[in-house]
Amino acid sequence: MTETIHAAPTGVEGSIDRADYERQYRASVEDSDAYWRDQAQAIDWITPFRQVQDTSFNEADFRIRWFADGELNVSVNCVDRHLATRGDQVAIVWEGDEPGETRSITYRELHRDVCRFANVLKDLGAKKGDRITLYLPMIAEAAAAMLACTRIGAIHSIVFGGFSPDSLANRIQDCDSRIVITADEGCRGGKRIPLKANVDKALAQCPSVEHVLVIRRTGGDVAFTEGRDIWLHDALQGVSDDCAPEPMNAEDPLFILYTSGSTGKPKGVLHTTGGYLVWVTKTFRDVFDYRDGEVYWCTADIGWVTGHSYVVYGPLANGATTVMFDGVPNYPDHARLWETIDRLGVNILYTAPTAIRALMREGKDWVTKYSRRSLRLLGTVGEPINPEAWDWYHRVVGDGRCPVVDTWWQTETGGMLIAPLPYATDLKPGSATKPLPGVQPQLVDTEGKVLEGATEGNLVIADSWPGQMRTVWGDHDRFFQTYFSTYPGKYFTGDGCRRDADGYYWITGRVDDVINVSGHRMGTAEVESALVAHAKVAEAAVVGMPHEVKGQGIYAYVTLNAGEEPSEELRTELRQWVRQEIGPIASPDALQFAPGLPKTRSGKIMRRILRKIAENDVGNLGDTSTLADPAVVNTLVAERVR
Ligand code: WTA
Repeated sequence: MTETIHAAPTGVEGSIDRADYERQYRASVEDSDAYWRDQAQAIDWITPFRQVQDTSFNEADFRIRWFADGELNVSVNCVDRHLATRGDQVAIVWEGDEPGETRSITYRELHRDVCRFANVLKDLGAKKGDRITLYLPMIAEAAAAMLACTRIGAIHSIVFGGFSPDSLANRIQDCDSRIVITADEGCRGGKRIPLKANVDKALAQCPSVEHVLVIRRTGGDVAFTEGRDIWLHDALQGVSDDCAPEPMNAEDPLFILYTSGSTGKPKGVLHTTGGYLVWVTKTFRDVFDYRDGEVYWCTADIGWVTGHSYVVYGPLANGATTVMFDGVPNYPDHARLWETIDRLGVNILYTAPTAIRALMREGKDWVTKYSRRSLRLLGTVGEPINPEAWDWYHRVVGDGRCPVVDTWWQTETGGMLIAPLPYATDLKPGSATKPLPGVQPQLVDTEGKVLEGATEGNLVIADSWPGQMRTVWGDHDRFFQTYFSTYPGKYFTGDGCRRDADGYYWITGRVDDVINVSGHRMGTAEVESALVAHAKVAEAAVVGMPHEVKGQGIYAYVTLNAGEEPSEELRTELRQWVRQEIGPIASPDALQFAPGLPKTRSGKIMRRILRKIAENDVGNLGDTSTLADPAVVNTLVAERVR
């Protein structure tokens, strides 16, 4: 099963073959300015750039700037420029929670929707540089809202609809949004999500917010605050269909997206306009080998970076037809994806390993009930894919005829960095294969020494690429410290990685205190601070544990305050508490009451030991002699949750 799957026959018209890839890769490294000057012509510029790369990862002259004297507008690239050639082509197919609840929006209609939405935002006083928070389901209006922000130069910050009111409030406060866009309710798997009610709760702590724009999705009953809340359909009355696009400098901010790191506070990852758009336009076209007229479906939510780059910006910049899915893969049953693929004629499917594993468990009959004949290419993202799941995806879902592109990247990288080009790169199940042109990965040891050949180490990127994040919103120093101080002069990804003798990269997972639960990034420190905020909790330590479907699960060790007694009720209460504090995705899968945590004499928790216990790998816990009280380990082992 781990044998190489050869790339589809070369010479597929219009595709990048192996020689092209090698040529492009070499050109991108040897004369990066010339290469990117050329590649950046794939998008339309209002003012052409003269400068290309202006970057340094060194502390003394640290800067990341691409195409810095050029001007452009993202909504023009994603919509207006397609009107002449494909105005009547479908841009977005919206597929609701209920199968067949579908709506198609052409590029011409999208243009009108975006302009009108932008005019509503302007009427509310929004202008270039303002931050606007979006807390929305996967409805077509969400894409229109994103593009409307880019049209007027406002910076969107999308908060995943599964986050709690508290998490939403923190993100609104961090970037001082004056406007929040939400919907009455969301629908997921037949259940209603009280989005507007969550916004109301969050706004109790957000005095900066002046307007809440509400989209009617379900028609459910919601409270309205006079003077603050407005229905989108009311605001759209009499609004013009035209809105002149704001010319944006390539380095003007495009969006903020909060992501988890190794501290308790999520970071506002900032992407800018020109480099990001060049990156997602090129990687979408090359990695999916997108061909005009194809229907492309990425199942990610716009609350995550994959939804930004590969549901909205990458596909639309290429004039593609992109599916926006407002449901879940197991509703109304386990055939949902395959039934929808046949009904919509989907050619390219891009999803997460966790979804593949969950569906694989239900057996192949759900899949083979449908023809899936339209499928040409399959993609995965978000976490390492185990070879068994890769093989099932390839053999059962794709009937062995669709290349599988395993794409490695991060919120910080803007788009894919390591991924196959389907007609150029031989595939190995479980490997994201090779770096894309412009990407220079290296493996380093803990001292930062660069390791050559077949080896394993920490994954860093040696030089900048256009789609790279530019800063942490409001904390440029944190940006530098987090990513560029561990291995001076290099971008540190936080991932461990193996490289084989063929130069293929195999991501082994995070080496920092971030865990990856169902492809969602979660900082262990975030879950710990939520637990410690509970009145009965004295201390908490959270680590990842292997989980058959989610990839990683959350294992929490909790020490109670003196006088508190562990109980099943308290366990349930604490899990519920974390759901409320952060959101359902952060709820611990296992929670162990620990009378004490293994600490060094200087008071540092030895997470290595906690990870081993959570993995149920207690045969060799390593050296415990430096612990202040080695006996706590025995108790933890004896009482571990299995
Ligand atoms: C992990 C998601 C292995 C990795 C786009 C990374 C992967 C983190 C892959 C970023 C992959 C993502 N193979 N691991 N194909 N794709 N990861 O920011 O640990 O939500 O650092 O971006 O997910 O997660 P994020």
